[in-house]
Amino acid sequence: MRKSLLTAAVAMCVLVAGTAVSAPTVAPAVVPARSPLAAHPPGAVIASAHALATDAGLRVIAEGGNAFDAAVAVASTLGVVEPESSGIGGGDFFLLHDARTGKDLFVDARETAPAAVSAAQYLDANGHLDHDKALDGALAAGIPGAPAGWAWIAEHYGKLSLRQDLAPAIAIARDGFPVYARMVSEYSERSTVMRRWPATLAVYEPGGKPLAVGDTFKQPELAATLQALADGGADGFYRGEVASKIVAAVNATGGHWTLADLSGYRVKLREPMTFAYHQWHIVTAPPPSSGGVALAELLNILSAWDLRAVDTATRVHLIVEAMRRAYRDRTFYLGDPDFVRDMPIARLTSQAYADQLRKGIAMDKATPSSSLPGVAPAKVGAHTTHFSIIDAQGNYVAATLTVNTTYGSGLVAAGTGVLLNNEMDDFALQAGVPNAYGVTGYDANKVEPGKRPLSSMSPTFMISPDKVVVLGTPGGSRIITMVLLGILGFDDGLTPQQVVALPRFHHQYLPDSISLEPHALAADVIAKLVAMGYRIDQRNKTWGNMQAVEWNRRRNTLSGGTDPRNPVGKVGMQRMNLTP
Ligand code: DON
Repeated sequence: MRKSLLTAAVAMCVLVAGTAVSAPTVAPAVVPARSPLAAHPPGAVIASAHALATDAGLRVIAEGGNAFDAAVAVASTLGVVEPESSGIGGGDFFLLHDARTGKDLFVDARETAPAAVSAAQYLDANGHLDHDKALDGALAAGIPGAPAGWAWIAEHYGKLSLRQDLAPAIAIARDGFPVYARMVSEYSERSTVMRRWPATLAVYEPGGKPLAVGDTFKQPELAATLQALADGGADGFYRGEVASKIVAAVNATGGHWTLADLSGYRVKLREPMTFAYHQWHIVTAPPPSSGGVALAELLNILSAWDLRAVDTATRVHLIVEAMRRAYRDRTFYLGDPDFVRDMPIARLTSQAYADQLRKGIAMDKATPSSSLPGVAPAKVGAHTTHFSIIDAQGNYVAATLTVNTTYGSGLVAAGTGVLLNNEMDDFALQAGVPNAYGVTGYDANKVEPGKRPLSSMSPTFMISPDKVVVLGTPGGSRIITMVLLGILGFDDGLTPQQVVALPRFHHQYLPDSISLEPHALAADVIAKLVAMGYRIDQRNKTWGNMQAVEWNRRRNTLSGGTDPRNPVGKVGMQRMNLTP
């Protein structure tokens, strides 16, 4: 199985990147079995979805910063160079490992619903969910959390000042950077909506026409807003002139925000979700992400089988059956833990529950989702972003950042350069009605003032006696199954570059079909799955943008992988004598 996955992964590299990406090779292990564990990594490694962001992180490390400073530099730079994916107007999850204390921390800088929110605001005249209101413009936006997250991390964990950490992003916003193909194609997908607002047009169609590949994209107002954050800390964004302009812009275009919504925004510090899988200690996202709970449930179910000993069709079948069951539970039980006090997390993540679910899985037959108690269809998302960092002190950061769907709500708040998210669509705005990712929800994820919408973003660490792995990806509801396949890939001994290139398959309970990337499975495997009762949804597009880094403590080497589906990503390292 491992061999066939590898072969497919290499084929995929070539296929999706369009250029020949050299086949990753596994270095033969010539390490003595009991070589001592290194206390510190031999340098720093960063994998992100844009080379300028990776370079920004390396720059602050070269200036004496640590992984946390680098995280602020990478996140803020991604917001400038990948506006389709994340930014100062969005929300972020940061998973931190502090080498000094040995502790892990989850910094929840997710957007919140404004105080004046009500579910009725998102309905049309017939009482149906109005997807335009949920996804486009002021009503779609939650109160941004990203800037508060950056300021908090710089202040509490960084070695440098917030000003130093934001300097690369500010310079790139001011001086510009070359527009790349994905920015242009995503813009053309979203431009009908974005053209509704003159302030958005002024940024994205300077000179009256859309940006083209190779143009220099400058965002002077965004540079000024970032500078206000750098100078004033969180207050530079959440109070004063920037806040007043944002509130005015939102309310002038159909929203209902107050200055208090902004000044009242706080990051939440949460205990990460942790559990064991084989020799790995997994550290990942707790609610309001559904990722950690789902991953624990998935891997608890899978842990009883030797996935390396079965044929590919059986492996995919067992993984898909676990996916089906975990996504069903996501639908019903999970939401913002500050609002939903009775989430049955201990039960959902218990081995006993996994044992019970496993009993319902036949070795040779698909379980129709309709036969499981329960819920609705999905679109592929290609936005949001993730980066992974390990530094020379042994700190690590996994961060997934988002404005939700491509270019968020499409609304730039006039005078600030801030492109606002459309994270409100991640709430179950109407019970049982699928959102942009085809996932549904009920009471636990209903919209309420000040509440955070349920997320799938799953920044993750995997720790074994020998290795530290940091990984994550965008992809909407597919994030969790991609991280699952990533964990299984590392467990199979693959390198980060091999893992990020792995072909992907996905099942999310409803729709009741396995979606496949192009060439993800061989024809005979698909035929076996069909014979087991599966419906196959063969997609003609890939999904995800995984960024992973690894510290091998036996060899004391660092390595990284950037998703070959995204040609502008980069793995950067700070020192020589590291494996590429
Ligand atoms: O928080 C979430 O789960 C979504 N807003 C993430 C969106 C996403 O990953 C889009 N990417 N393709």
